[in-house]
Amino acid sequence: CGVIGVVGNNNATEILLSGLKRLEYRGYDSAGIYVNDQHGNDHLIKRVGKIVNLQQAITNEDSGITGIGHTRWATHGKPSQSNAHPHFSQDRRFYLVHNGVINNFAELKAKYLTGVEFQSDTDSEVVVQLVDYFAVTDQVDALTAFRKTLQLLEGSYAFALMDRQEPDKIFIAKNKSPLLIGLAAGYNLICSDALAFLDQTDTFLEIHDGEMGIITKDNVQLTTLDNQPVQRQPYQVQMDANDLSKGTYDSYMLKEIDEQPAVLRRISEYYYSSEQDKLAPQLLDDLQKADRLYIVAAGTSYHAGLVARQLFEELADIPVEVQLASEFGYHMPKLSAHPFFIFLSQSGETADSRQVLDQVRHLNYPTLTITNVINSTLAREAEYSLPLCAGPEVAVASTKAYIAQIAVQAILAQKLGLRKKIAAASELDVAQQLGLAANAIQTIVDQKDYLEQLSHDYFAQQNAAFFIGRGNGYAVAIEAALKLKEVSYVHAEGFAAGELKHGTIALIEEQTPVVAFILEQSTAAHTRSNVKEVLSRGAHTLIISKQSLAQEGDQLVVADLDERLMPLVAIVPAQLFAYYTAVERGNDVDQPRNLAKSVTVE
Ligand code: G6P
Repeated sequence: CGVIGVVGNNNATEILLSGLKRLEYRGYDSAGIYVNDQHGNDHLIKRVGKIVNLQQAITNEDSGITGIGHTRWATHGKPSQSNAHPHFSQDRRFYLVHNGVINNFAELKAKYLTGVEFQSDTDSEVVVQLVDYFAVTDQVDALTAFRKTLQLLEGSYAFALMDRQEPDKIFIAKNKSPLLIGLAAGYNLICSDALAFLDQTDTFLEIHDGEMGIITKDNVQLTTLDNQPVQRQPYQVQMDANDLSKGTYDSYMLKEIDEQPAVLRRISEYYYSSEQDKLAPQLLDDLQKADRLYIVAAGTSYHAGLVARQLFEELADIPVEVQLASEFGYHMPKLSAHPFFIFLSQSGETADSRQVLDQVRHLNYPTLTITNVINSTLAREAEYSLPLCAGPEVAVASTKAYIAQIAVQAILAQKLGLRKKIAAASELDVAQQLGLAANAIQTIVDQKDYLEQLSHDYFAQQNAAFFIGRGNGYAVAIEAALKLKEVSYVHAEGFAAGELKHGTIALIEEQTPVVAFILEQSTAAHTRSNVKEVLSRGAHTLIISKQSLAQEGDQLVVADLDERLMPLVAIVPAQLFAYYTAVERGNDVDQPRNLAKSVTVE
C-alpha cells in the first residue's frame, strides 16, 4: 500500500492525486483521499480500482489545504469502497491512512470498542476508532490519544492521521513500514516512498521505527513513542524526476526492458570507476571471514539469487544457500559457524525479507542489502548496502532489477574471489562480460517484431506454458515462467529439464508451448533430448540457445557470454514474450491484477 499526505498547500487535492498515481505500483485495489480546507470544510473520496477511478470521482469542489491519501493492496478485508482508506472515527472527527498490518486489532476492538459501529472489515479502522475513543474518554488531545493507541499496537504501520479539530496538522507514526517526510517550499509532505513527491521536493527526512510526530506547514516535530524528542537531519534524494516518466513508451515494462543495456553499462561504470572502490574494505573483510553465504529474497529477486549462487561458489570459493525469505524466517536451517547474509530486494521494503534481517541482526551476523532503493528500510537496517543502479523500476513485473541483481552480485563475487586469490576470479573479466551482455541484450530488444510474432504464435492463445533448462537455464526458466504468469495470466511453470519426464510431462498436450534454454555445454545434449521427448508428445517447442551451442532450427540464438552470466541475456526474450502476450490479451502490463510491486506485509 502507499500512504501520502500534504500539509499547507492550496492544491492539496492535486498533489495527493499525482502522488498517488506515482505510488500506484504499491497497490491498486482501491484508493482514497481526505482533504480539509482548514475553514471547516472537508471531503472524503474513495473508490475501488485504480487511481483513475478516484480521479474521476473528484470534482473542483473537493479542494483543500491539508490532506492524506492512500492506495491499497488488500490484506484485511476485500477491495471495496468501505474497506478503502482513509478510515474515520464514528463521530467523523479523525481520519487515518495506514500501511501495514495490526496483529492484535481483534483484541483491541473487543476490549475498547464494543459500542462502536464499524464501517469496514479492516484492522486500520480499529486504530482510528481507538484514537477517538481515548480522545473522548480520557479528555485528551489528538496527539496524546494517538500516542496511547500506538503504545497498544502490535504489528507494522505507517500512519497518517488528521483531526478535524486541528486541521492544519498531520500526525504520523512508523513501525516496520516505510514512511518519509518531504520538506517543500512553504509546505510539507509525507509519503511511503520518495518517488511520490520527487516533483515537489528532493529533500526528505527519515522516520525510524518507533517514532511519531506532528507535521505542520512549516514545522516537523518528531519524538519516540515515549515522548523523547528526536533530532534528524534531512537528506537529498538524487533521482531525476524524468526517470519516472514513460517517455514515448506505452508502458513502463517495455521501457524498462529496453533500458537493460544501459543499466549494465551504468553498473560497470559505478562499480569499476577508478575513484574510491565502491565495496568497503570492511565488507570484503567480513565476506572473507564467512564460511557460507545465505542469500535471502522473494519473487524475482530470489530468482536472481539462484543465478548468483554459482558465481559466488566458483569465483569466490564459498558455499551458498539461496533462501525464500518467507520460508527462511520461520524455518531457519542449521546455520554454518560463520554465516554472512545477503538480502536481495529491488524495493528494499519487502516485509518477508525484513523479518529475516531482523532475526539475523539479533544474532549478530553480518548483513548486506543489495537494493535499487538506497534509502530503503532493508538498506538502512543491514550493516552494509550496495546499490543496483537500475534507476527507478515502476512496472510491477521486475525486469531490469533482475539483471542488475545478477550483475552486481557477479562483481561482488569476483572482487571477493580476487581478494581470496581464487584463480577463477582472475580468469573472468566481469566488466568485459557486462559490456558483451549489454550488446547482446540490445540485439534481442532490436528484434521486437520477431518476438511479438513468437509471442502470438506460442502463447497468446494458450492456457499453459512450460519453460525448461538445466543449471542456469533452470534458474532462467523459473523467472521466465514467473514473468509470463504475472502479466499475461497464462499459467506457466519453470522446470529443471531433466525433471519434466518424472511427472509433469503428463501435462503436455497438442500445442502446449515448451520453451527450452540451452545455455551450457555440459547439459546441452540432454536438454535437447528432453525437447524431443515433449515434441513427440505434441508440444510446440521453442529453443533459445547460445550461439556456440546453437543448432539449425533453434527459434532464437543469443550471443555467447561466460556460461555463468548467460541468464543476463537469456531472460530478455522471455520478458518480451510476457509483455507481448499480455498486450495481445488486453491486460494492463504495468499493473497486473492482484499484484503490488512492493509487498510490505508478511
Ligand atoms: C513483489 C513483486 C515482485 C517482486 C517481489 C520481491 O511480490 O510483485 O515482482 O519480485 O515482491 O520484491 P523486492 O522488492 O524485495 O525485490
